[in-house]
Amino acid sequence: MSHRLQREARIALQHHLQRESVFESFAPGRVNLIGEHTDYNEGFVLPCALELGTAVAMAPRTDRRIVAISASHGQVHRDDFSLDESPTPLPRGAWGNYLRGMVAAARNADEVLSGMDIAIVGNVPQGAGLSSSASLSVALGKLLQRAAGNAALPSPSSLQHVARWAQWTEHHYAGCLCGIMDQMAAAVAAPAEALLLDCRDLSIERIALPADWCVLIIDSGTRRELVAGEYNQRRRQCETAARHYGVPMLRDLQPSQLSKHRGALDEICFRRARHVVTENERVLRAAAALKAADLRAFGAALQDSHESLRLDFEVTVPAVDALAAEVNTLISRHADGRGGARMTGGGFGGCVIAVLERAAADPILTGLRQTVGQLQIFTVGLH
Ligand code: GLA
Repeated sequence: MSHRLQREARIALQHHLQRESVFESFAPGRVNLIGEHTDYNEGFVLPCALELGTAVAMAPRTDRRIVAISASHGQVHRDDFSLDESPTPLPRGAWGNYLRGMVAAARNADEVLSGMDIAIVGNVPQGAGLSSSASLSVALGKLLQRAAGNAALPSPSSLQHVARWAQWTEHHYAGCLCGIMDQMAAAVAAPAEALLLDCRDLSIERIALPADWCVLIIDSGTRRELVAGEYNQRRRQCETAARHYGVPMLRDLQPSQLSKHRGALDEICFRRARHVVTENERVLRAAAALKAADLRAFGAALQDSHESLRLDFEVTVPAVDALAAEVNTLISRHADGRGGARMTGGGFGGCVIAVLERAAADPILTGLRQTVGQLQIFTVGLH
């Protein structure tokens, strides 16, 4: 997939900007197996790379302009700005903000950039919780690093820098105070593995997905507006709770302290904290189950995570709750409960993820189409 998309990016550069590509880069979208809203609390997450992603091709210019086209989802958009000023942010929602943010971040890191023509193509669905924007930013960051004269094969530390630039871009050019999970996954996750990431020190452990497991990503088709506002509010509630408990981050709060030191902490912030503390435990439990290839225990952690996101963190929507419940019912019927499903990503709509045996995928997909109808479904580990 990455090679095919890079070829498409070369063709798009030639077609729309009449330039021959000098080099390309790619970054995947990601799906999070478990560990939701833990990253900005410096906790644990367990994402894996998708085959879908974003590819970028570039040719140098002799002036100091960045001219870019994005040919994704059947539409072509253009952005054009000078490197002589700091790139101004565009209105909220414009894709060009990711390019402008990444250029600003690279320059803040003292990378020296010259003008270039850039073509971008991608196939991660937008707003589905599969990190289309992190995939775009990280693909651009890798390209900018190389354009600034860095090695063609980036080192682990330069990939971490790219992930940080991409997070900075989300904060300063897209208005979402996100954590680091999506950007790290887009920068370092490889196919067929889950990435256990400690969001405090960015250390990673790569855990292979057992050959007989598969991941289904089922798009509910539901999207909600103003998600950044809700997201940023959850982050503030977590910070309020951490201050109340006197810990630097909710990562540092022991489960036994939650109720004991609750004091006058309001109900909402208490539940937010309870989600984060229990979710961190679930990630570690799920990672152990993955290593032991224990699908029943892994599935149970996914189902518990969904309930905590529904009741304590309140980021699910009825359509996603119903879809997750339906998939869990099908898993108990067709796979004797080996596996589980839950919402994935930031929430407020988007996708449900299910992890199950490959052998059970067909009857479950058939059952889903019968009960829910035609849905967009992506898979990891099915072919
Ligand atoms: C979004 C953010 C991530 C993370 C998830 C929730 O994807 O970009 O940083 O917080 O939501 O787990």
